[in-house]
Amino acid sequence: MNNLIIQNAAQVVTCSGFSGKHGKEMSDLQVIENGSVVVTDGLISHILKADESIPVNKQDYEILNATGKALLPGFVDPHTHFVFGGYREEEFSWRMRGDSYMDIMKRGGGIVNTTRATREATEEELFELGRQRLDAMMRLGITTVEGKSGYGLNRETELKQLRVMRRLNENHPVDIVPTYMGAHATPAEWKGREDAFIDFQINEMFPLVAKEGLAEAVDIFCEKGVFSIEQSRRYLTAAREHGFKLKMHADEIAPLGGAELAAELRCLSADHLLQASDEGIRTMAERGVVATLLPLTAFSLREKYARGREMIDAGCMVALATDFNPGSSFSASVPLLFALACIYMQLTPGEAVAALTINSAAAIDRADRIGSIDIGKQGDLVLLQFPSYKFLPYHVGMNCVETVIKRGEIV
Ligand code: NIG
Ligand code: FE
Repeated sequence: MNNLIIQNAAQVVTCSGFSGKHGKEMSDLQVIENGSVVVTDGLISHILKADESIPVNKQDYEILNATGKALLPGFVDPHTHFVFGGYREEEFSWRMRGDSYMDIMKRGGGIVNTTRATREATEEELFELGRQRLDAMMRLGITTVEGKSGYGLNRETELKQLRVMRRLNENHPVDIVPTYMGAHATPAEWKGREDAFIDFQINEMFPLVAKEGLAEAVDIFCEKGVFSIEQSRRYLTAAREHGFKLKMHADEIAPLGGAELAAELRCLSADHLLQASDEGIRTMAERGVVATLLPLTAFSLREKYARGREMIDAGCMVALATDFNPGSSFSASVPLLFALACIYMQLTPGEAVAALTINSAAAIDRADRIGSIDIGKQGDLVLLQFPSYKFLPYHVGMNCVETVIKRGEIV
């Protein structure tokens, strides 16, 4: 039936808006105290203040008493690589011994290691693993997730990953927004022929993925020793001609000028940004490129965190994501994400909430449908065990989410 009344929440943290919030706007969450929310046919139909009566026939609705609890929009995770085969626990222990992420990648570990395992996995195996991972994310309050291909690096396995995401989207309550990431690394069979590998992406893969409607956006790992600024510009410009939205892994390890390129191309988002320059931050703010920050990755790689505070002060739209993947961030821990964003990047709790709701929806071009509690939006909501959103970073590493609601249904 998907009709639900969430009654008398200590806070209705609306994060109201139909587009991403820039800079200072991020701290205005438009909280309603002791409010109620009605979801009708899966969509938010009424948002009521304490003194307003509920103008629907209660017999037609399931009722959830939210006294003493905070109600928020469902969390949107706009950057993950959650469909993959195999694990890389050995690489984690090598890193603890002092090896760097890039050293391991250079000697044939890293992304190409996962590529081997993903090529070997059957579609059914990847589907089952993906389903389990989505279940775990949903328990943490994630109601929409972006997922990237990029562990196939050949036609067959890239398409396999994208098909798995399509099927999961049809069979799991969490919504999946697929991104094609053919240029995640250069596989062994193309080593030393990076430009030709980019040509293969442009001439063979983009038309195929576009024709089958298997991805909305295209992404590239723009990094020293992976794909250059020039290769990224060529790849992304061609992707746009095929109708894809543009995303970048930018300025993660070395300051290459990825943020500047994202601004030049008006990408939907640039992600990581640990090494983004002042000029890159300024132009991203000016051009409305969402800065998607991934502190679980910085934490796992023991790198310095992105300059989240400065980005918000410079007027950027800052979003947060888990970057869930088997290498640099084998975690979808929303609780730890909130804590790191506030403790190490100096976001306020309110800004962190905006970054994982309305702004992360903007990072996948969904701010018109999800990411806030506004009339007409999808009834994707989370009810906390506590009366305020401020518990999210404060209850460090602990799951505050008590109930997850997807399109008006308790899941
Ligand atoms: O976002 N940096 C590149 N890509 C992923 C890591 C993928 C992997 O190590 O498997 C990231 O961190
Ligand atoms: Fe990533």
